[in-house]
Amino acid sequence: MLTRRDLLKAGLLLGGALLIPGARRASTSPGLTPFVDALPVMPALAPRTTVVPGAHFYEIRMQEFTQKLHRDLPPTTVWGYEGLFPGPTIEAQRDVPVFVRWVNELRDTSGALRTTHYLPVDPHPHGPNTQGATPRTVVHLHGGKVPPESDGYPEATILPGQRVVYYYPNAQRAATRWYHDHALGITRLNVYMGLAGFYLIRDPAAEGPLNLPSGEFDVPLCIQDRAFNPDGSLQYPAGYTFGFFGDTVLVNGKVWPYLAVKRGKYRFRFLNGSNTRTYQLELSSGATMYQIGTEAGLLGAPVPMTQIQLSPAERADVVIDFEGHNPGDQITLLNTLPGPPEFAVPNVMQFQVGSQTGHLAALPGTLTTVEFLSELAAVQVRDITLDLIPDPDLGIRFVIKSGLNSIDWDDVTFFPRLGTIEVWRIINMMGGPHPIHLHMVNFQVLDRQSIMGGAMVPPPANEVGWKDTVTAFPGQITRVITRFDGYTGRFSYHCHILEHEDHEMMRQFEVVP
Ligand code: C2O
Ligand code: CU
Ligand code: CU
Repeated sequence: MLTRRDLLKAGLLLGGALLIPGARRASTSPGLTPFVDALPVMPALAPRTTVVPGAHFYEIRMQEFTQKLHRDLPPTTVWGYEGLFPGPTIEAQRDVPVFVRWVNELRDTSGALRTTHYLPVDPHPHGPNTQGATPRTVVHLHGGKVPPESDGYPEATILPGQRVVYYYPNAQRAATRWYHDHALGITRLNVYMGLAGFYLIRDPAAEGPLNLPSGEFDVPLCIQDRAFNPDGSLQYPAGYTFGFFGDTVLVNGKVWPYLAVKRGKYRFRFLNGSNTRTYQLELSSGATMYQIGTEAGLLGAPVPMTQIQLSPAERADVVIDFEGHNPGDQITLLNTLPGPPEFAVPNVMQFQVGSQTGHLAALPGTLTTVEFLSELAAVQVRDITLDLIPDPDLGIRFVIKSGLNSIDWDDVTFFPRLGTIEVWRIINMMGGPHPIHLHMVNFQVLDRQSIMGGAMVPPPANEVGWKDTVTAFPGQITRVITRFDGYTGRFSYHCHILEHEDHEMMRQFEVVP
């Protein structure tokens, strides 16, 4: 058994800026040429309008199929929604409810409903320890304010052949949200296979007058790293892993794609849909990008940025202007996160400038009015501590403690009252960063401070807005404030490094009347 000291040492030595103890990086992907495939833009799904009057109804099937992920790769077996990886984009309007009938239709190559997972399933974590390697799925609308029975409760999984109808009220700000799998103990495998897609909530009343780039100039970009076997199949380590780094980066399901752009402004909706990897996005031209939105909607004003760091599940709506470029210019979107070379993947995608002009309207100086929550209005302060503990089956286990014996998923100790404001202090005792996500509520970042004390540093300008995922840096206390309005019931909060989430860095809170 490892001692507490060994654990700390492991955490700290491997910690640094981005390393995750026990992280694996696959390194056998065949050498692939970047920027030879056009960026796919996921189509918006057409609703079946007639089922529920005044609402949009969709049926979305989870399926196994093959898809070409790079010109020089044989077709790859993936899981996706409606035959697509990433899934089709759901275009929702604020205050117009959406109903989705989610259908688990995962079949193996013989056409039979699957009884086991495609990837090797580690039998130790909570979930597979009782359910084995069954291909259970459950869909969560990340960033959505939805009733608990539609939230994708990690234990409310369905098996191939089963279906469930979820209700999404969309009574919330316009924002780039996403849907993805959330099955207890195998989320990392299901998302890695491809179960994720965009869910955009639009609000023409709020965004229309801003004349932001729209239509072909409004492009969601889902960034995910993967590793491949020479036959094109996805590679993921069997057994226990605390993190996964692939050696290729896919955007919207293509390895290192290019996008032919017109000279003008684009609104890119960046989503880090990766399991573990954090990106620092930067243009090879060194040009300034303007961040206009966070996970949960528009910022008060555009924030000029030359580097944008995104942890898993974080999003950034960013305007990039190609007007000043010449036809033929190639601008690479780089990942410049410094770190040990064996984890570095410098390329993300490329923009290839054409001769036509596009969206030229100026970016407004003011985007929205953000209502800031006051700490004085908080009725409760709660501490959660990110830590690792010895575990008889797993060796070590990453956990969220809210008290000495409150460590696991089943230990529900947080009961916020509906409609009240609380401050949560996320105390990161570990050597690496952890992106922390709360279901049901969006929050604001108050500040960050070293666990040793010292100044409480307010968030950078691009975090001064509504978020649903925040990076808790190592050795820091990150404070967030939120109002628990919406629904009573049980909701998850967790680290969004999917390997950590699966290994029980996930708890739940229960909103009470
Ligand atoms: Cu994006 Cu609980 O998840
Ligand atoms: Cu979520
Ligand atoms: Cu984590």
